[in-house]
Amino acid sequence: MRHMLDITDWSIEEINGLMDTADDIIAHPEDYAHAMERKKLATLFYEPSTRTRLSFEAAMIELGGHVLGFSEASSSSASKGESVSDTVRTVGCYADIIAMRHPKEGAPTVAAQVSPVPIINAGDGGHNHPTQTLADLLTIRREKGRLNRLVVGMCGDLQFGRTVHSLMNAMSRYPEISFVLISPEELRIPGYLRENMRKMDVPFMEVEKLEDVIGSLDILYMTRVQRERFFNEADYVRLKDSYILDPEKMALASAELTVLHPLPRVNEISHSVDKDPRACYFKQVLYGKYMREALILKLLEAKA
Ligand code: CP
Repeated sequence: MRHMLDITDWSIEEINGLMDTADDIIAHPEDYAHAMERKKLATLFYEPSTRTRLSFEAAMIELGGHVLGFSEASSSSASKGESVSDTVRTVGCYADIIAMRHPKEGAPTVAAQVSPVPIINAGDGGHNHPTQTLADLLTIRREKGRLNRLVVGMCGDLQFGRTVHSLMNAMSRYPEISFVLISPEELRIPGYLRENMRKMDVPFMEVEKLEDVIGSLDILYMTRVQRERFFNEADYVRLKDSYILDPEKMALASAELTVLHPLPRVNEISHSVDKDPRACYFKQVLYGKYMREALILKLLEAKA
């Protein structure tokens, strides 16, 4: 049975196929309105979420299906000590597919080992967030018309930012991609990812100042410094406003720049940037729903 645990488990051809389906759903939503009739999606969210959970639910409803689930561990029997494995075996008796977010890295992989239905990783700790990557890739393809020949800037918390890790792993497989990694020393990408880039011969540079490099970028992927991943509040307070994208910095960038952010944001993008036509983060939110529709269709078609 097929799952979506890590974006690299899916080939470039398969991911391109999901994007083609999402494009078709956008163009012809009526063709898909009954595709998942009588099917149920369970959303098991052990961590807070707005976009991921609600876009999965909206996606299933738009496909004619139904949703059930919980939005916090405290309202489930996890609060009584039930394991992820037992929870998934139980929910697999009620639902056809499960989207799970969990603070522990690898929890969705553990779930997939016992699940009777496909598991989708909706974010596991500081590790991966493959369905955010699907949203990111569709946004880039629709904005740029391609996923190759791009200079991609990643800015902010690159250490704990699971969306950054998944997107770098995905984009590294397209030709002529290079990364400009912009972070404070303490929030640089994990060592394993640096090794992956070297092994795959993907060019990258690591810098601290956004102003020095913004003019060279095709894509700028801003991220939040995540309070919930820090052990020490003083470190968070010191680093939280390391980068603030504002109109002055946007003036240094190319007219063709595409600005992305997985959201939620705090201070790292000034609200005055939102009206700049290069700001695409709310398109990214919308495209996430269509990519999740495409993924649900693909996983349930594979299961049938
Ligand atoms: N991008 C993202 O994962 O947002 P949520 O935490 O609101 O789901």
